[in-house]
Amino acid sequence: MFAVYASAPHADDPMAGLTIGERPEPSVPEGWVRVDVRAASLNMHDVWTLRGVGIAAESFPMILGCDGAGVLADGTEVLIHPVINAPGWRGDETLDPRRTLLTERHQGTFADSVVVPAGNVIPKPPELSFAVAATLGTAWLTAYRMLFVQAGVRPGQTVLVQGASGGVSTALIQLASAAGARVWVTGRTEEKRALATGLGAHATFEAGARLPERVDAVFETVGKATWSHSLKSLKPGGTVVVAGATSGPDPSADLQRVFFLQLRVLGSTMGTRQELVDLVSFLRLHDIRPQIGLTLPLEQATDGFRAMLDGETTGKIVFTR
Ligand SMILES: NC(=O)c1ccc[n+]([C@@H]2O[C@H](COP(=O)([O-])OP(=O)(O)OC[C@H]3O[C@@H](n4cnc5c(N)ncnc54)[C@H](OP(=O)(O)O)[C@@H]3O)[C@@H](O)[C@H]2O)c1
Repeated sequence: MFAVYASAPHADDPMAGLTIGERPEPSVPEGWVRVDVRAASLNMHDVWTLRGVGIAAESFPMILGCDGAGVLADGTEVLIHPVINAPGWRGDETLDPRRTLLTERHQGTFADSVVVPAGNVIPKPPELSFAVAATLGTAWLTAYRMLFVQAGVRPGQTVLVQGASGGVSTALIQLASAAGARVWVTGRTEEKRALATGLGAHATFEAGARLPERVDAVFETVGKATWSHSLKSLKPGGTVVVAGATSGPDPSADLQRVFFLQLRVLGSTMGTRQELVDLVSFLRLHDIRPQIGLTLPLEQATDGFRAMLDGETTGKIVFTR
């Protein structure tokens, strides 16, 4: 079948392993289902996979794509929850020490079809397009858990989102704004800050700029480039939720500030199946449609990867079949 895959890891030149071609049709183990993919979306995780981060060398070649939406054999339209648990795991799927994300051990969604455990699909409501549904499983689910599960953001609180135009950042802005928070955003360019304003940000700032006042919660996926600013921007007792470190991890954790101001530093990864169901419900209730900046046929996936690597994002990047 047609697929976009990582042929081998390349730590310093991720595009070197990006391959467009044919992969074997998947077999369907008992208890798993085959989804014929209609749309899939790109995440930074796919770039990490091309670099060989978070995947064993023997797992290559690996079809890329954590997120997707499509159709089951019986015609049911579904979207995919990409957290795959060890058999028998019960409870919060993100806490299973043996969990993997699609593309770490099991083949991904950038293909004609993908095979996942039956419990990893949820129904796609008809009013959400396949493209929209394909944005939800990773970036949007992560943003939902960061905001509402980890930070417990309440209406009226002020939150800072580091980064304006990325998949997780745009999801944080749209969700926090719909939930009634005052949303402040840093962005690296005027265009990116304007995008954030259009998505509901109440104020935007250049990266690293001093804020008018300290905030209740900061949402971090950038890492080293913004970490110090994140801690400095928090009120005493404030919360920073971190789900990524695109610019690299920061070895100086600024511990004095953490203990003296009693800051809460919370990690967050993906979300549960139920949180994905709740996210879909939230989108329907508030009539929110995720910001999609670029839609391409899967055959042109290389252009999408290049845009992400160059930092030229304007929301999610979606591939269609
Ligand atoms: N833990 C989890 O479960 C989870 C889930 C999803 C994503 N993540 C992680 O979150 C991060 C973002 O993922 P994504 O898919 O949203 O990526 P993306 O779409 O490429 O977004 C990158 C974001 O990083 C911001 N950024 C600011 N300063 C940066 C710098 N110096 N270098 C690079 N980026 C900078 C960009 O802001 P501007 O708009 O200002 O350019 C943009 O908002 C990745 O590290 C990813 O691995 C983790």
